[in-house]
Amino acid sequence: MRIAVIPGDGIGKEVMEAAIFVMDRMNLPLKYEFYEAGDECLKKYGKALPDETLEACKKSDAVLFGAAGETAADVIVRLRQELQTYANVRPARALRGVNCLYPKTDILIVRENTECLYLGLEFQIGDVAEAIRVISKKASERIARFAFELAKKEGRRKVTALHKANVMKKTCGLFRDVCKEVAKNYPEIEFNEYYIDAACMYMVMDPYRFDVIVTTNMFGDIVSDLAAGLVGGLGLAPSANIGDKYAIFEPVHGAAFDIAGKGIANPTAMILTACMMLKHLKYLEEAKRIEKALEDAIYEGYRTRDIGGNMKTMEFAREVARRL
Ligand code: NAI
Ligand code: MG
Repeated sequence: MRIAVIPGDGIGKEVMEAAIFVMDRMNLPLKYEFYEAGDECLKKYGKALPDETLEACKKSDAVLFGAAGETAADVIVRLRQELQTYANVRPARALRGVNCLYPKTDILIVRENTECLYLGLEFQIGDVAEAIRVISKKASERIARFAFELAKKEGRRKVTALHKANVMKKTCGLFRDVCKEVAKNYPEIEFNEYYIDAACMYMVMDPYRFDVIVTTNMFGDIVSDLAAGLVGGLGLAPSANIGDKYAIFEPVHGAAFDIAGKGIANPTAMILTACMMLKHLKYLEEAKRIEKALEDAIYEGYRTRDIGGNMKTMEFAREVARRL
């Protein structure tokens, strides 16, 4: 199987090296093909997402993406739209032994990935800048159904829709109404809704009330970082972008320029992301073995700096690989 690998910028490159090092241990029939995109790519070729990279993604069985920097909108947001990976699945699960705010957190965030304010329909006339927020019935239905199907598949009991329909009556109103309609087809799964602002408070004070969350693009971006913060930080948060034809796997974090080049980034998010990819490619057992090796290592105290240890990125990756 062909994997289009885009390490990107900053720590994207460092955590990608670590994740591939770990996966290599499994001797799977995966062919990694490396492509450029991101800030450095823009400087080199004048394009943040070259056509060659985009075409390669379309010919691959999966895309594995590290992180982009300031060009994130032109690279990863565009990739998600071009490949119509409409569902961004972002689990926030506390790993055993990690010191965090809520050690029993286990939330699955399902974020709509193709529209909302992230379409990039922005204009400026003089001193006034405007953005257009697009919410369609089609995309809302698709993401709501995806969230319920995922809940069913994963044996989850509840789906919560997050929106701000009291203020954004048309866009969020449509999203909420569609979620409510879709929920009727899943009587075995509880459905409820919160306004996004209140939801942020609940998430910080009582995250255990959440199971599966479904929300629009920008709210999903924000609450997924919030949820990552509950379980120990962005160094631990993986994600998958799933469509009918393509899939892109990327950690929730960005290029983290504040720590890039030092070899201290936590590769856990990227390794767990690689595991999501392996599961998608039906290498279930292999993915579970890697997850277990990683969780055991962390539990036994092998940790990078962000979660209280002093290991370097590759030192931690070698420890995980050694256990496989
Ligand atoms: P960020 O996610 O890169 O970093 C936020 C904070 O979390 C930083 O303090 C960073 O050191 C820490 N962090 C993130 N990942 C970590 C890891 N694996 N191990 C240890 N600590 C980690 O977000 P920030 O700083 O707002 O953005 C930096 C650049 O990344 C910007 O240019 C931004 O546009 C880009 N970005 C790209 C994304 C993408 O490609 N998907 C997503 C978010 C930001
Ligand atoms: Mg984000």
